[in-house]
Amino acid sequence: MEGKPITPAPNTSNLSASPESDQQVLQIWGREPLKGHVKISGAKNSALVVMAGALLCSDDCRLRNVPSLVDVALMAQILAAVGVKIEQNADVLEINASQLIDAQAPYELVSQLRASFFIIGPLLARLGFAKVPLPGGCAIGARPVELHVRGLQALGAEVHIDHGTVHAYVKGPNKRLKGAKIYLDYPSVGATETLMMAATLAEGETVIENAAQEPEVADLANFCRAMGAKIQGAGTNTIVISGVPKLHSVDYPIIPDRIEAGTFLVAGAITHSEISLSPIIPDHLTAVIAKLQTMGAKIIVESPDIMRIVPGRTHSATDIETLPYPGFPTDMQAQFMALLTLSEGDSIIKETVFENRLRHVAELNRMGADIRVKGNVAVVRGVARLSGAPVIATDLRASAALVLAGLAADGVTTISSLQHLDRGYEQLEVKLQKLGAKLQRVKEGEPANAEAPVEPVRSGLK
Ligand code: UD1
Repeated sequence: MEGKPITPAPNTSNLSASPESDQQVLQIWGREPLKGHVKISGAKNSALVVMAGALLCSDDCRLRNVPSLVDVALMAQILAAVGVKIEQNADVLEINASQLIDAQAPYELVSQLRASFFIIGPLLARLGFAKVPLPGGCAIGARPVELHVRGLQALGAEVHIDHGTVHAYVKGPNKRLKGAKIYLDYPSVGATETLMMAATLAEGETVIENAAQEPEVADLANFCRAMGAKIQGAGTNTIVISGVPKLHSVDYPIIPDRIEAGTFLVAGAITHSEISLSPIIPDHLTAVIAKLQTMGAKIIVESPDIMRIVPGRTHSATDIETLPYPGFPTDMQAQFMALLTLSEGDSIIKETVFENRLRHVAELNRMGADIRVKGNVAVVRGVARLSGAPVIATDLRASAALVLAGLAADGVTTISSLQHLDRGYEQLEVKLQKLGAKLQRVKEGEPANAEAPVEPVRSGLK
């Protein structure tokens, strides 16, 4: 890449962020057994933050195993808006951030993708200033950013919020942030990532205590280290970063998506089907595997990166509390709720990470589930059958839960608001069709076909 500055118009021809998914519905004919193998894509949450991390480097960055998702396309557009040259070739992104421009990421884009706020850390570290609109609320909660802001202030940044935009800058002749000890009140994934990226190019040592331990944080650290950053302890609750003045070119593969893998494990369990998945990193799925085992499924790790689920004849109820990693992931809560609706007995699900992440309950109940909610707790009473119904996806993982419920329900389930699904699952329908599921996308308003499609129909996903 030549690294020429580009205008804020994104150079992301393959990375369209505006599919027609909000005008489409997904029809699922339930109770078809699944069989076979699924290829797991690169991790969405790693890819998004590693793309932001590429801002730290003025040489070429090549990212491999990047999933083709609406969120990735949005992040590409946001990077393009601050002068990054970015090209996509299949699952490879070529990124060159050599000539950043003094522009603000457009609010229309940042408000659609909370992860785009994380560019504030690397931008500030590279340029000594950054202005990024506040992301605002989202479907699952208010999601403030005060931990990011306080951490950047601890690293020496002046930060003020003006007309909904966070302005951050570093005073002094060399405009470099200064290493500091930072304690996070809560192990926020995004704040840990923002601050780790910012500290990478700071002067001196930064220690982040009570850091998030999610695998995506460790993946970002490995990416930064592959560019020459000095980071220790990522993946534990204490991360130590010794700032370096400059990073170099890199060719880096994104880790497999543990949430996509977990979703397919639940697809196997809920349809009582044996399926295998790869590539995966079993250690990233410990909490999910433990729950499935408790419920009666067998999980067989066939090789370091292939896993098979042998579901139980029936699945027993179990309680779930979402927690920061290595606890049970909030991003798997909705999918497990779908599974627990068909399990034997009563389960209690407590959502502790986000305040508004039980909106799928009403939709699952429309399908015949028996779930009651009080505050952040849902009581799921297992039922013998779910029945297909028209339902609305309320957020990304809620959409996955409805797909899973639809796979197990009698009759046809029709899911609308598919834009959520397309944010985070690469070719979900195609992958499910390959396993034998009967589902298809049609334009909203078209009557549901009485018959399931005989031939697998390609989805509208890219
Ligand atoms: C990331 C993931 C998301 C996942 C979540 C928790 C990405 C792109 N997204 O989101 O899929 O569900 O981790 O595993 O990686 N909070 C504050 N103040 C802050 C920051 C966070 O109060 O400054 C709160 C949030 O509102 C939320 C909780 O902390 O209630 C967890 O948020 P956080 O860990 O930051 O999640 P994200 O990084 O946004």
